Amino acid sequence: MRFTSAILGLALTTKTLALCPYAERALQDPDFLKQHLKERDAPKAEKQHDKRQSGPGNIPFTTFNENQLINVTGEYAWVAPGPNDIRGPCPGLNALANHGYFPHSGVVPLSVGASATETVYGLAADFGIPLTVYATLVDGDVVGDTWSIGGKQPQTVTSPILGAGDGLSGSHNKYESDASPTRGDYYLYDGDVSSVKVPKFQALYDLQNTAAVPNYDLDTLIQHRKYTFDNSLTTNPYFFFAPFAGVAVANAAHTFIPALMSNHSAEYPNGILDTETLKSFFAITEAANGTLSWTPGYERIPDNWYRRPLGAVNEYSPVSFAQDLVQIAAVVPEAVSVGGNTGEVNTFTGVDLGNITGGAYQTSDLTNPTKFVCFFYQLTLAIVPDFLRSEALGSALAGALNLLQTEISPFVDPSCATIANYNDAFAAQFPGAAVGQP
Ligand code: HEM
Repeated sequence: MRFTSAILGLALTTKTLALCPYAERALQDPDFLKQHLKERDAPKAEKQHDKRQSGPGNIPFTTFNENQLINVTGEYAWVAPGPNDIRGPCPGLNALANHGYFPHSGVVPLSVGASATETVYGLAADFGIPLTVYATLVDGDVVGDTWSIGGKQPQTVTSPILGAGDGLSGSHNKYESDASPTRGDYYLYDGDVSSVKVPKFQALYDLQNTAAVPNYDLDTLIQHRKYTFDNSLTTNPYFFFAPFAGVAVANAAHTFIPALMSNHSAEYPNGILDTETLKSFFAITEAANGTLSWTPGYERIPDNWYRRPLGAVNEYSPVSFAQDLVQIAAVVPEAVSVGGNTGEVNTFTGVDLGNITGGAYQTSDLTNPTKFVCFFYQLTLAIVPDFLRSEALGSALAGALNLLQTEISPFVDPSCATIANYNDAFAAQFPGAAVGQP
């Protein structure tokens, strides 16, 4: 394995917080300091657990409120997808559609995506909005402003000319990536990127299944990240890890598991992700003999499931993800590197991010949370227009470019470096970059 750049540096300050996060939190919540001091003196194992599913800066949640309970009854009762309903590679989104928080069809209006992911899971708007805008513009219907959580959405009046987008399942290397937590690589499974590969799930499951108190926390998912990256490295000659789909999305797909699927309670205000909750979100059932099986589209929010608390300091934001990425990089540095295999297994070659971004960002910036957040938004602004130009024309293109600017710019810190010259020529050395492209 070769890397042209070493992954360096921890910078734990964030631009979005004027004070240190502890001071900021203490000002907002009078019980915080008291609780923090109590936790400082708590036994080490407990502290270790506490810091994992916590808010930005790994600040433990100190509050728990009954209103964190997610309603899965009445209009939000679970209903299996019908034959025309679309489901895809994201268990979090599939579950929203099964519970009526998204349209049951799996075709989601732009305006619904980020509000539902925030209300139900505590995904911050500054994360949910870019993710859903990207879905709409890169693989959705840019005229109707809808996107599909799985395959192609049905044609609409406007879409026959422009194409209704291929959906998340058809967005290989643009959104969907190799080396996912439980889904297979495009090349290895003939384009099936939406099915859970049970052995992959089993590998994750086994990491905690026999623990005294099973908890799929960030440490566990980092161990699994090592497994999933190595799995693609050693079995897929066309393994490719793109800047957005790979470094950002496929890593987030790992951190979202503890961050957004954990169950919170008065006993575990920081959340705990046990075996039953994990299986429910991944549509996995276990036979009496321990055999696991997956039922497509049956992702379910468990009864009595409480999401993380809402509010700026609690929701999972790009800053929180950037901090989790630092922890991933400490154990699996290769997973925080753009690159791929070069046509044979075990030939992963990392690419210097400086060459791709015209010098605006370096590989080491991926493990600097402030710079990573800049990179995340600036990369979106840089790559979406290229994807759009290959698919939309005339006024549709102009409208889509305008939507991109209007929705993303408010989140961008003006001091962030702009990627004026995005250079995707690096992809030519990786045969996997062309896999799944028309
Ligand atoms: C805001 C809208 C969201 C979008 C557009 C989105 C999109 C995606 C995409 C494209 C993938 C495939 C990534 C890959 O190939 O590695 C994915 C995977 C995943 N997403 Fe989401 N997602 C969203 C929100 C969420 C939420 C709220 C959760 C958790 C509750 C979640 C949990 C996951 C997980 C765990 C995976 C990995 C699936 C696997 O490999 O089994 N996502 N998502």
